[in-house]
Amino acid sequence: MTSVLFVCLGNICRSPLAEGILRAELVGRGAGDRIMVASAGTGSWHVGNPPDPRSVEVAMRHGIDISGQRARQVRAEDFSRFDLVLAMDGENLANLFRLAGASAATLRAEGRLRRFLDRDVPDPYYGGADGFERVHEMLKRGASALADEILGS
Ligand code: 4NP
Repeated sequence: MTSVLFVCLGNICRSPLAEGILRAELVGRGAGDRIMVASAGTGSWHVGNPPDPRSVEVAMRHGIDISGQRARQVRAEDFSRFDLVLAMDGENLANLFRLAGASAATLRAEGRLRRFLDRDVPDPYYGGADGFERVHEMLKRGASALADEILGS
């Protein structure tokens, strides 16, 4: 069993969408029950809240229902519970390294704590619907590559 945790700032826009997209990608490849996918935020403002309506909507447009997900904050034990912790941007990653403390260097060296994509997934919170569509596109491409990596295909 492999487990993946996506992390953004609020856990209401980017990481819940990434969670839904990767899960759907894995289910589509018949591996839905082999990989555990979750998401969390470095911040605590939105804990317990459903994803932002704009993320729910863009997911729905692409055939995925993420409305049942609820925001939670990253915890120190996430670094041992998850095989992969993937940050949406460099700022989230820096905060995660701080939170990981003594284990940060090992997690980095093993590639278990890293930025999800080779560039930042921009925070769409203060922008319009087009920003969410662009984020979806980036996450979709990244999820497909990650599924290849995890499943070794
Ligand atoms: P996310 O977007 O990190 O992709 O969930 C944000 C959501 C909320 C806030 C910032 C970013 N906020 O400042 O409340």
